[in-house]
Amino acid sequence: MSTEPAAGNQAASSGSSGDESLEAPIRNTPPVSDWTTDYDIFDEEYVTDPVPIWNDLREQCPIAHTERWGGSWLPTRHADLQALAKIVPALSSTDPLVVSLPEDMVEQEEEEIPVGFGAPPITADPPLHGWTRKMILPTFAPKAVEAYRPYTEELCHSLIDGFVAEGRCDAAEQYAQQIPPRVIAHLLGIDPDKADDFTMWVRGVLEFGLYDPKLRVKYRDIIRDFLFAEVLARAAEPRDDKLSEYLAMDIPDGLEVDRVGLVVGLANLLLVAGIDTTWSSIGSALFHFGSHPEDRHRLAADHSLFPTAIEEMLRYYSPVTMARVALEDVPYDGVTFHEGDKVLMNFPAANHDPEVFDDADKILIDRQRNRHIAFGSGIHRCAGSNLARLEMDIALRVWFDRIPEFELADPDGVAWAGGQVRGPRVLPMAFPPGQPR
Ligand code: HEM
Repeated sequence: MSTEPAAGNQAASSGSSGDESLEAPIRNTPPVSDWTTDYDIFDEEYVTDPVPIWNDLREQCPIAHTERWGGSWLPTRHADLQALAKIVPALSSTDPLVVSLPEDMVEQEEEEIPVGFGAPPITADPPLHGWTRKMILPTFAPKAVEAYRPYTEELCHSLIDGFVAEGRCDAAEQYAQQIPPRVIAHLLGIDPDKADDFTMWVRGVLEFGLYDPKLRVKYRDIIRDFLFAEVLARAAEPRDDKLSEYLAMDIPDGLEVDRVGLVVGLANLLLVAGIDTTWSSIGSALFHFGSHPEDRHRLAADHSLFPTAIEEMLRYYSPVTMARVALEDVPYDGVTFHEGDKVLMNFPAANHDPEVFDDADKILIDRQRNRHIAFGSGIHRCAGSNLARLEMDIALRVWFDRIPEFELADPDGVAWAGGQVRGPRVLPMAFPPGQPR
């Protein structure tokens, strides 16, 4: 496995090594008339700044419903999100995106795809959930993720080397977006120089593919084919990497699982869950400090604030809202989730609940009591949170060391992705030009 990150100038390019490019599909949805009965998580207003919408909903209708995108429920209170996360498996994780695949695609999958494919443990209920989670947990233990610190630090420096002399960059595309795909590739033992492809594929699944199931399936299949070849290669000749390690693990007796398919599923999840989420959080943090000079000066002057500042970024700009599907009628606090209904696990809204957070809508980079659930709650709580925190910590510390003075170059030019994973995708930043190392 290579230990050297890609060179900065190469990393800074935005294209993919393939010949394809990814375009956002057109959404022809009417404007929202009433957020309590007709919300739209893909609406521009929701994507750009959902906080006021959640606050209104929490007061007026804490578990809202919409018919849009196949229909779903949207809880906004911290206590409800925690309670709903415990209703397992009646609120099942087997279909975690709000827009489901059309019936014919699901039927085809059921015929073609052995148990274990998909993206367990996030797409699995017990018992498959428990033991697939156990397989990957050691990879993300605090000590284990420390092994990726030198690689990540060197990567961040090399990225900054690629643009620091210019005095400007797109901090989303040239920095935040470049870090997680390479770290995950490095961890899995696959080629980090395919990072631009991984980025495009993951956006195809988790950004544009959220509301365009055909696009989602296209990129999901590309990822699966790629990983399938990688896993088969390890099955033939094991290497010193995680894919080989997962292939060699014990599978409990009595569970009919295709071993190669299972490892493809695990790798699929780690690639998909580890990329969009973490780069969104790194990008949101840079957005914040690039638009709030007082907080930027304070953090630049006092690095002991990094741990609380990072938790506050995770709380305020929480990126991830996964869905559950009701396997039976589930009555909950005055509403009934009917069999087949989607419930959005709106952890980001929970993190703005004034019942739990003082000054919930203020960003306090020294907030001491911060019981946020950006990483979820219950049995599906993020397995990669230690790695995510490590990447955020390194990405921000290296940036602040190299570029302590910076600001948004064009606040109107910032573009957000949203829906189920929210973060800036265009983030023009300006700073005094510096020297590559
Ligand atoms: C800031 C970055 C991240 C955030 C905010 C985040 C958030 C979340 C959330 C909210 C869940 C729960 C989903 C649910 O309840 O359905 C989750 C699950 C998960 N995340 Fe993360 N995540 C991040 C980074 C990562 C990274 C870097 C990895 C690993 C490469 C990772 C791996 C996972 C896995 C494996 C699960 C499924 C756990 C299970 O189902 O038992 N995540 N994440």
